[in-house]
Amino acid sequence: MKKLFIKTHGCQMNFYDSEKMADLLKPHGYQVDDSPEDADLIVINTCHIREKAVEKTYSELGRIRDQVNLRREKTGKKSIVAVAGCVAQAQGKEIMKRSPWVDIVVGPQSYQNLPELIAKVDPLTKNNHINIEFPTIPKFDHLKSLVNKRGPSAFLTIQEGCDKFCSFCVVPYTRGAEYSRPIKSILDEANELIDKGVKEITLLGQNVNAWNAEWKDNKVWGLGRLITELAKIKELEFIRYTTSHPLDMDLELIEAHRDVSKLMPYLHLPIQSGSDGILRSMNRKHNVKEYINVIEKVRNYNPKIAISGDFIIGFPGETDKDNQATIDLIKEIQYSQAYSFKYSIRPGTPAAISLNQVNESVKNSRLQEVQSILRDQQLEFNKNSINSSLKILVLRNGKKPNQYLGRSQYNQSVYFSSEEKNIIGSTININVTEAFQNSLTGNIVHI
Ligand code: SAH
Ligand code: SF4
Ligand code: F3S
Repeated sequence: MKKLFIKTHGCQMNFYDSEKMADLLKPHGYQVDDSPEDADLIVINTCHIREKAVEKTYSELGRIRDQVNLRREKTGKKSIVAVAGCVAQAQGKEIMKRSPWVDIVVGPQSYQNLPELIAKVDPLTKNNHINIEFPTIPKFDHLKSLVNKRGPSAFLTIQEGCDKFCSFCVVPYTRGAEYSRPIKSILDEANELIDKGVKEITLLGQNVNAWNAEWKDNKVWGLGRLITELAKIKELEFIRYTTSHPLDMDLELIEAHRDVSKLMPYLHLPIQSGSDGILRSMNRKHNVKEYINVIEKVRNYNPKIAISGDFIIGFPGETDKDNQATIDLIKEIQYSQAYSFKYSIRPGTPAAISLNQVNESVKNSRLQEVQSILRDQQLEFNKNSINSSLKILVLRNGKKPNQYLGRSQYNQSVYFSSEEKNIIGSTININVTEAFQNSLTGNIVHI
């Protein structure tokens, strides 16, 4: 077997794509290895969402070049280097120019062509092979390769791309137009994952709740219907989905949070800002009131649901008053946990050319304030779990001896100790004893 090293940056969809690439390359003799040093094929799966993520790619490429050269000097063997993902899509030609030693550049919609591209790489001559097309036949139709072994929890991409064009965001350009994967192909993959021992599936999409597809009887299904159908798979115990858009939260999905016990009571619903003016310049197509109404409705159907979100701090034109509106909204919603980012200028997006860019130090202090409130809310949420019994899926070993890590229904990391062996993949109840910022600890409850 040849050694394949894959490094993944960015969102869960990239992690899913990396697993798919490994599945795809296995029949071609590539086995995943967790070290790049002696790898025959190195794939960097990149993210373009913020400038920092892009910088990471270029500095990583520098390190990889040194490693590849060293290997060639020592062993005479050539490592093939492929850059995949959203930076590949957005800056493919630039990567080839800046790092001409990179063999392959492949976009998120064309990595099904990797085996062919690899076959074209000549070990002696200089090669550059690039494929950043948005193919007319979606990649999923080509990804029928067998699923390799997975852990107890797996991702399943059901929707890709975005047509919403928020003015700060690169996703519509790197992932292309909104596309919903057909129902049969999703159900087939879910069943394959279950056959491999998977107990939890997280359905993925840039706007996962915009997913819709036609079934045999010509009826169009939305995400709520799909989740209801997936819940019928006996061995599947936990269903999650991410990321959702407020405008696509339909009644069927909200009802699923009341009716489908396998659907976890957790909703990641980004708003980005608590100011209507900023939401307008972001081209979000919804206002604060509409967002609050959606959350209230979801909470009416499932009062225990944990709410998460995303915020962009320092969007062009954001004033102190706008930032205060974001803080007020955060206080009103009470998040179980949420992500916040400093606005990052993305070339080619409408907001990048705004003349009202916010000063870096203002951005920093606003971000600190927002993050401190979100941290307090998260700790508070976690503390509320103390003395309660949570059903968790055991995911893997922890760092300490006999320690395990599981995930609660609210998406919290839960650590516990046990002498028992072979409990990874099982569902157990934990009595929570301590709560921290990012995790809980507790003891197994034997029923
Ligand atoms: N489709 C999802 C988000 C996908 S991108 C949605 O609409 O909510 C993931 C997150 O990255 C976004 O929610 C946003 O908070 C952040 N993000 C996207 N572009 C950004 C930029 N230019 N600067 C800072 N954060 C950004
Ligand atoms: Fe980006 Fe907006 Fe689409 Fe989300 S909805 S992926 S933020 S353009
Ligand atoms: Fe990044 Fe692409 Fe995901 S830009 S966040 S890897 S869709």
